[in-house]
Amino acid sequence: MALFDYKDSDALGNVKAVDTAMVVVSVENLELLRKLQVNRLVVLQSSRAGQHLVGIVQKIIRDTTIANALGTEPEADQPKNVEQNTVRIALIGTFFDRLGQRENVFRRTLETVPEIDARCFPIEGDRLTAFMRAISSHTGEDDHRLSLGTYTLDENAEAYLDANRFFQRHAVIVGSTGSGKSWTTARLLEQVAPLANANAVLFDIHGEYSPLQGDGIRHFRIAGPADLEAGSGLDEGVVYLPYWLLAYEDMTTMLIDRSDQNAPNQAMILSRTVTAAKRAFLAAGNHNDVLANFTIDSPVPYDMQQALKELKRLDAEMVPGTRGEKQGEFHGRLSRFIARLENKLTDRRLGFMMAAPEEAQQFEWLAKLAKSLMAGTRDQGDKKGGVKIIDFSEVPSDVLPLVVSRIASLIFSVQQWTRKSQRHPIALLCDEAHLYMPSRNDAGSVGDAALRYFERIAKEGRKYGVGMVVISQRPSEVSRTVLSQCNNFVALRLTNADDQSVVQRMLPDSLGGFADLLPVLDTGEALVVGDASLLPSRIRITEPKAHPDSGTINFWDEWERDAQREAIASSVAAWRKQSQTAK
Ligand SMILES: Nc1ncnc2c1ncn2[C@@H]1O[C@H](COP(=O)(O)OP(=O)(O)OP(=O)(O)O)[C@@H](O)[C@H]1O
Ligand SMILES: [Mg+2]
Repeated sequence: MALFDYKDSDALGNVKAVDTAMVVVSVENLELLRKLQVNRLVVLQSSRAGQHLVGIVQKIIRDTTIANALGTEPEADQPKNVEQNTVRIALIGTFFDRLGQRENVFRRTLETVPEIDARCFPIEGDRLTAFMRAISSHTGEDDHRLSLGTYTLDENAEAYLDANRFFQRHAVIVGSTGSGKSWTTARLLEQVAPLANANAVLFDIHGEYSPLQGDGIRHFRIAGPADLEAGSGLDEGVVYLPYWLLAYEDMTTMLIDRSDQNAPNQAMILSRTVTAAKRAFLAAGNHNDVLANFTIDSPVPYDMQQALKELKRLDAEMVPGTRGEKQGEFHGRLSRFIARLENKLTDRRLGFMMAAPEEAQQFEWLAKLAKSLMAGTRDQGDKKGGVKIIDFSEVPSDVLPLVVSRIASLIFSVQQWTRKSQRHPIALLCDEAHLYMPSRNDAGSVGDAALRYFERIAKEGRKYGVGMVVISQRPSEVSRTVLSQCNNFVALRLTNADDQSVVQRMLPDSLGGFADLLPVLDTGEALVVGDASLLPSRIRITEPKAHPDSGTINFWDEWERDAQREAIASSVAAWRKQSQTAK
């Protein structure tokens, strides 16, 4: 059945002017003009049989000249004020009654433009539902469709995205705080989790995703001080990131104060000492194959206490001189560096890195860690769960970028070194991304190294089956390089102008006006743009079954409640112990 079997009497008006992707339609009937709304869909007669051109209403103008509507100056001989009601329409694609074997197919191509006087019809009611269904049913094959919600234009029509495209070339979920990003993420994961061999990792910075439970979902957390005491490990979902997994660059940014005049010496000694310690470990374990090719960045365990001892020796070293003993080359130059290192070694908050249990000091342990974080549902033993949610809430904020990026780059490296035939695609969902892939950064800062890892994943991830979903409330503060690699945007309400312009740049020129909707979107409502959706569309995100603990507090209700609380003393205790879970 042809979808667009309009009668002439349904027509809104006729085409009066045509540009490449823009047409102006004049509307005689003022009633119809009044009913029309910006961003509604219309269909225009095409010069080819069986084809229709689909457009979005961009501007509705009463009492102005056509020349003005097109944004050009009226000709001198044209009257300036003709009574003329016009609608400006951006063409977005072609609808085919039949294309090959399929009926009712929409394509984002414009092979023709409408002719002057072609008729224009509104797409409303049943036709709108049918049109949206037609779009959705051809968004990807039936079995790789992802549904975030329903179209705002027509709540009866489920909005499907092409799930392959969504993850293939990275996606972005943005929106001001409280606009619904975490809920959207939960909705997304709820659809990933049931897949037979799902594989995704969510970086949960504030520990708000714990309510997401059930088959296909596993929870991990970066070890906090309380876990150190309990001695819990990977089997209980506790993740350590032992210092030997840090790259040289991470260590220098964490341990060396660049303003120290001895910084270059300290960096050199650090490199030399760690290399020697790693080599000693490999030699002791007879790992000769690794020994032949290793560098300071190789993920090889070593004994930090041993390394510290060596640093202290150099710092106090005396060597024979012409007249008795004299100070060694590095005498006293390493003191501040050693103090910094010792500080970190004893900092309980950094225990997940510096005080990992014995098991995490073993050569074999890295494979176990990688397997926990990277195995798909099918590849796991009894504890199944292809969606892995890692809680970073107890990681101190100054090292957060380093820790998140290290885990991401660990996953990326393992994926890179997996034979192509064995590679299983994995998605990294990065919540609060502006914290660890910021747009501006001081060279040499903790965030700087982190940023480079993520930029690399953004640029090369596709080839190795690593997809990113960047989630942030401040897209303008997220690295441009990362964003420029993302091909799909789910934009929730955005109030800040800089953030809006980031989304605006994603839109094709003719649809730039779509971005005007960003500040007026409802909570949980999004503009979805990109190669995963046929049409840039406004979608009402369906509530996820389990709600992330997003911490929206009803101030007034809480204040009105006459209930006594005694939390403050234990809050102080938790602050001191740097752990909410500690007793
Ligand atoms: N799809 C939705 N349908 C209905 N309500 C929603 C939806 N999404 C979000 N909300 C409401 O908005 C609140 C905030 O949502 P959410 O935690 O997802 O925001 P956020 O964008 O992640 O904020 P933040 O930037 O602070 O993390 C939720 O507690 C919920 O009440
Ligand atoms: Mg959130």
